Amino acid sequence: MPKKKTNLGGLNILLGISGGVAAYKAVDLASKLRGCGANVKTVMTANACQLVQPKSFEAVTASPVFTSLWGPSEGYKIDHINLADWADIVIVAPATANIIGKIANGICDDLLSTVLCACWAKPRLLAAAMNNNMWNNPAVQRNVKLAQEMGFELTGPETGRLACGEEGIGRMSEPQDILEAITKMASKIKRKKR
Ligand SMILES: Cc1cc2nc3c(=O)[nH]c(=O)nc-3n(C[C@H](O)[C@H](O)[C@H](O)COP(=O)(O)O)c2cc1C
Repeated sequence: MPKKKTNLGGLNILLGISGGVAAYKAVDLASKLRGCGANVKTVMTANACQLVQPKSFEAVTASPVFTSLWGPSEGYKIDHINLADWADIVIVAPATANIIGKIANGICDDLLSTVLCACWAKPRLLAAAMNNNMWNNPAVQRNVKLAQEMGFELTGPETGRLACGEEGIGRMSEPQDILEAITKMASKIKRKKR
């Protein structure tokens, strides 16, 4: 497939998938990133693996998918440090209430939360997605604010029809909109590197 000409060509993008129903849309995002010439490695939580098979991400990114702190490591390196060092940009899409809470509180109890702790100095984007009542929960709002103060950028959530059947705020941003947010982050990195 010919690569689209964008500023993502050659960038290393770490895509974290947490257990939100919008995980299926992240397959499209991963495919779009690859189509732009980015190198994509995917880290999935155990709950995300209940919603979408890792094989889908493996297929569209042409890279292994990482699901455990204790999996076979690439070249005997420690995966969570190796992945954090490798990434130019880190995205979590969808970002559940749970992973945002872990980020805000420095909790590292699985591979994705541990990688996110180790890459605090990298450009990072959260595509939040959850039920509207979860989003409006004061604890979630506090954690989102903390994550933003720690340097995470936020896209969404959008208002519309939610998976639970309600109308309200909580939908993950569309993959194309997330891609545009990543493109903006990439242009800042390229400017710094010059
Ligand atoms: C079908 C289904 C869909 C879910 N969708 C969401 C969601 O969109 N956002 C969210 O915050 N939690 C959602 N959850 C709940 C999370 O999966 C749960 O809080 C889990 O602990 C998240 O773990 P993780 O962040 O480690 O993936 C959903 C659960 C189920 C069963």
